[in-house]
Amino acid sequence: MPMNGNGLVWLNGSFMSFEEARVSIEDRGFQFADGVYEVVRVYDGKPFTFQEHLKRLRQSASLIELDFKIEDDRLKEIGQELVSRSDLKDAELYIQITRGVAPRSHAFPREISPTILLSIRPVRPLPEGALENGVSAITLPDERWARCNIKSISLLPNVLAKEKARRAGAYEAIFIRNGIVTEGASSNIFLLLEGVLRTPPADWRILRGITRDLILNLAGKEGLPSKEEEFGVEKLYQAEEVFITSTAIEILPVVEIDKRKIGAGKPGTVQHLLYQKFKQLVKENPAPAL
Ligand code: PDD
Repeated sequence: MPMNGNGLVWLNGSFMSFEEARVSIEDRGFQFADGVYEVVRVYDGKPFTFQEHLKRLRQSASLIELDFKIEDDRLKEIGQELVSRSDLKDAELYIQITRGVAPRSHAFPREISPTILLSIRPVRPLPEGALENGVSAITLPDERWARCNIKSISLLPNVLAKEKARRAGAYEAIFIRNGIVTEGASSNIFLLLEGVLRTPPADWRILRGITRDLILNLAGKEGLPSKEEEFGVEKLYQAEEVFITSTAIEILPVVEIDKRKIGAGKPGTVQHLLYQKFKQLVKENPAPAL
């Protein structure tokens, strides 16, 4: 069984390779995108903010009335075992829970048990120079549903937006809903304007990122004023700095939006400071208590 190097899967109770892992065509994840997920970063063999991700996984599941019986400690144990069996030190741990397998019919089937998947893969590298030089973004209408606080596997609008960004030569698509900036297709957004760090409030319009919350916390510790507030696209263009955050990209400077230069057109000092502090937190990440 090829297990090392490229990743490993745990599916419904067993460890296996990606090639071996199979889910039924009647899985409701496949047919209805009826499920939720998380992405956890592993640094130096240790999952980072695992507990926070599990908490959000439970919140997402509960918001779509999806019950799953497996305990947090067991999920952590499986995660840690995926790390040790795959021998991946810097990795992305993916967790997905769908409502399970049943003949296709929209309403919840009565007798059904969820499909539980955990997998591990090496970290996807950032584009070359992304951190040093910053990335570009485009803005697009937010065509998603009204429950973006749920980390649902239904990601079609995000996928389409990301592809539009890629075709425009940009790294991220930033969503605008009724004139208000919400978030990136797979990240949260921050701007620095008049020395105040600003990010949209954590309501139904955005996914409340674990990285977002860490950054707000770090900013507070550094004495940097911050506000969770609504802002329009013009504020993005006027900002001294813009950056995006996620588990996968950490804190990435955005230096161009819709072909307009942001600030000095290069990564700013606040992004740099917060990046350093974030990396410090990662270093202090305790070994998992199992
Ligand atoms: N995405 N907003 C959206 C729409 C996201 O998909 C993500 C993360 C975030 C940032 O959340 P966090 O800081 O907790 O990772 C915000 C993951 C990484 C993904 O889908 O791959």
